[in-house]
Amino acid sequence: MIVCVCHNVSDRAIRAAMDAGATSLSEIRAQLNVGACCGKCLPSAKAIVSECREDAMPRFTAVRRELVAA
Ligand code: FES
Repeated sequence: MIVCVCHNVSDRAIRAAMDAGATSLSEIRAQLNVGACCGKCLPSAKAIVSECREDAMPRFTAVRRELVAA
């Protein structure tokens, strides 16, 4: 699904950038130009970033537990 029509950025591109290490909407904006024109995509982009963060949190917690236990 295209999230940012102005810059032709899909939700998959945002998720891929998050998987590649982006951690915030600011980083996504810098990498993909999301929201750099009309800004109407920002609420959707923000929701996808939040969703990705929530998905990543269980993995982060598991790794942290392993590090603390080591
Ligand atoms: S839709 Fe993203 S800047 Fe316009």
